[in-house]
Amino acid sequence: MAGQTGSDDTGQGAGSPRIRRLVYSDLPSVLAIERRSFQTPWSLAMFVLELSKPSGICLGVSDERALAGYLVCSRYADVWHLMNVAVAPEQRRSGIATRLMERLFEEAGPGARYTLEVRASNSGAIAMYERFGFRPVGHRRRYYHDNGEDALIMWLEPAAPVEA
Ligand SMILES: CC(C)(COP(=O)(O)OP(=O)(O)OC[C@H]1O[C@@H](n2cnc3c(N)ncnc32)[C@H](O)[C@@H]1OP(=O)(O)O)[C@@H](O)C(=O)NCCC(=O)NCCS
Repeated sequence: MAGQTGSDDTGQGAGSPRIRRLVYSDLPSVLAIERRSFQTPWSLAMFVLELSKPSGICLGVSDERALAGYLVCSRYADVWHLMNVAVAPEQRRSGIATRLMERLFEEAGPGARYTLEVRASNSGAIAMYERFGFRPVGHRRRYYHDNGEDALIMWLEPAAPVEA
């Protein structure tokens, strides 16, 4: 259950970053990364709300010293909404977000559908999502209030079965 376990089940060797469920005591570290990552960072209350949802998947990646990144995903009906993902600036481009996404897919299971919104200018994140098969389906005009930027809406649908 999101926010209630702190177990590590990666099978990684000692010293390598571990992926695990986020817990409430991670939130100061989460907020520190959040504030270095976004123009309009989430508040503590927003993270607390997400961690309190029993059906959510909230993951963190850390070594023995510090949190390096996190991912927050909520399920509404039968669709997973990727709400937030961020990696500490000095640890980007080393595959951390990729590992978080891969763990999300494992935990959500086969056949899951995903959607997300991303700033239209966030080409790095869009490239990452496209690598996982997310496809743009439209825009939400002026979605971001700080600068009036559009959100790109992306979806990842399970592959359709091949007709015999
Ligand atoms: C987007 C973000 C989470 C990616 O995290 P990351 O750990 O650096 O991502 P990865 O190392 O797993 O990158 C996987 C692939 O995504 C693409 N990618 C990631 N960041 C990129 C960038 N800045 N520019 C271009 N491509 C990028 C690349 O294809 C990359 O593979 P490569 O490094 O082999 O070329 C990170 O840049 C971040 O925290 N950004 C600020 C917060 C943010 O924008 N979050 C997304 C909100 S929707």
